[in-house]
Amino acid sequence: MTSHEFEIANLAECLDLIATVAQWHWGHGFPDRTLSTTVEWVRARANLASIPLTFVAVANDVPLGAVTVDNQDRDAHVGLSPWLVGVSTHPDRPRKGVCSALVQHAVTAAAELGVTHLYLDTDTNGAAWSLYERPGWETYAEEISQNVPVVVMMIETELGWAQTTP
Ligand SMILES: CC(C)(COP(=O)(O)OP(=O)(O)OC[C@H]1O[C@@H](n2cnc3c(N)ncnc32)[C@H](O)[C@@H]1OP(=O)(O)O)[C@@H](O)C(=O)NCCC(=O)NCCS
Repeated sequence: MTSHEFEIANLAECLDLIATVAQWHWGHGFPDRTLSTTVEWVRARANLASIPLTFVAVANDVPLGAVTVDNQDRDAHVGLSPWLVGVSTHPDRPRKGVCSALVQHAVTAAAELGVTHLYLDTDTNGAAWSLYERPGWETYAEEISQNVPVVVMMIETELGWAQTTP
């Protein structure tokens, strides 16, 4: 898939990017993990056509952002699956539409795998809030996680699919 000035690839087809993606995740707040365990976490999510799977935005061989569709995210909602996790951009490339395109791509890919509902959670005060609010994610639950207010959001993937289909 080509979007703007970058392409979106499946991480399983560019395994050399695992370390970079892991570095972003680790830098964005996995205090309970080491960089090494984060690399293993990302590697386990580099599958071609089954969940968990990860997509990366790449321009001229430079990775710009990543997103993962994972089976599980939050202990509080073990009945819900799958989840969009690990949404992150290269720190030098903010506000270029990278994560918007990645999220859209992940929703479409999930739909192609038969997923009807996809979930995520986000800090209600964080920068990512409007990233999800605009393209059709709806509030599923509002709660406190580790003393921070978070919102669990849900999208019906057929809706996401329809938005990408002329
Ligand atoms: C939040 C984050 C994922 C956004 O990635 P991005 O590639 O810059 O996002 P996009 O360019 O697609 O932005 C889409 C919209 O999200 C919102 N947004 C993105 N970054 C924002 C910021 N720093 N402040 C306010 N709104 C922001 C804007 O509405 C933006 O649209 P606009 O630029 O047309 O106004 C990125 O800054 C990041 O990696 N942050 C650290 C990790 C994180 O918070 N991940 C999300 C976990 S749920």
